[in-house]
Amino acid sequence: MRVLSGIQPTGQLHIGNYLGAIQQWVDLQTKHDCFFAVVDLHALTVQQDPKEFGRATMEKVIELISAGLDPEKCTIFLQSHVKEHAELAWIFNTITPVSELERMTQYKDKSKKNKENINAGLLTYPILQAADILLYQAQGVPIGKDQIQHLELTRTIARKFNNLYGNTFVEPEALVLPEGAKIMSLVEPKKKMSKSDGAASYVSLFEEPESIRKKFMRATTDAGKEITYNPAKKPGVSNLLVMYSLFAEQSIKDTEKQFQGKGYAALKKEEAELLIDKLEPFRKKKKELQSRDLYLKEVLKRGAEKAHSVASQTMEAVRSKLGLLSL
Ligand code: TYM
Repeated sequence: MRVLSGIQPTGQLHIGNYLGAIQQWVDLQTKHDCFFAVVDLHALTVQQDPKEFGRATMEKVIELISAGLDPEKCTIFLQSHVKEHAELAWIFNTITPVSELERMTQYKDKSKKNKENINAGLLTYPILQAADILLYQAQGVPIGKDQIQHLELTRTIARKFNNLYGNTFVEPEALVLPEGAKIMSLVEPKKKMSKSDGAASYVSLFEEPESIRKKFMRATTDAGKEITYNPAKKPGVSNLLVMYSLFAEQSIKDTEKQFQGKGYAALKKEEAELLIDKLEPFRKKKKELQSRDLYLKEVLKRGAEKAHSVASQTMEAVRSKLGLLSL
């Protein structure tokens, strides 16, 4: 199976990204032909400081490798290194109704949050995402729940192009985990954990131990004192239970049993210690990679070459289907 997924370069890589997406990527890389992109062009829908942007992009590459991606087992690349992404996005622009884009939840949320910069890229963002996926003829796309709507639109675009110009694209499937696909904010557990909310709402994958302890101790919990899984009535505790179970690799039922008769404080305390322990290797690996500039450049160079060899083939087929002349 061909697999593709992507992540934005800006903001912290948090445990929501990890449990919903990256952990799947690490698992899939040993079984499938995987492509993972740091989507730097997507991040430009928010104005970036050019000096900081390059650093953040490289840091995301470091973080993905630290979290378990192995450049020997999968293809890691920057979206902007493969020009076909922007080219195919333009073509898809011409077959996607504006009304479909205006329906996207993420567009509605983001334009509400950034009233002063509702640029066209914010609206056409999912078209570029469709190009990311369809260029590689990916069958599987490992993502968290918040990206399902974009994947559905990708499928619609693939179908529409195939109907208009003849069979060209594979219709990809979303690979969404039963647990972990939507990790909630530590502060407002009815909202998803997001890098764009305050730092208290998420735990970074590379967070220092003292800060992890503080964030868990201050996490919002619910009325009562029973530690039971009930997302509607106990969103805070349920979110803590989900994260604990995933990091401890045990069922939610077993986690409930483990904390039976104990209070919220015990759960928070033990959860913080569990995470400190589990995240330690990631922190270590990140420090080690930070000084390996040449190696990282080499990884990206190889990644871009491999990605380009696939993307250019698809693009050639698309050009020919559309009647765009070659030289
Ligand atoms: P991004 O960078 O916001 O997030 C990267 C991945 O993390 C998942 N995720 C979560 N999973 C569980 N709980 C959460 N609280 C949580 N927050 C984020 C996301 O679902 C995602 O899988 N548009 C995409 C990037 C993208 C992409 C692509 C993804 C661009 N092109 C092609 C797949 C295929 C985004 O902004 O993800």
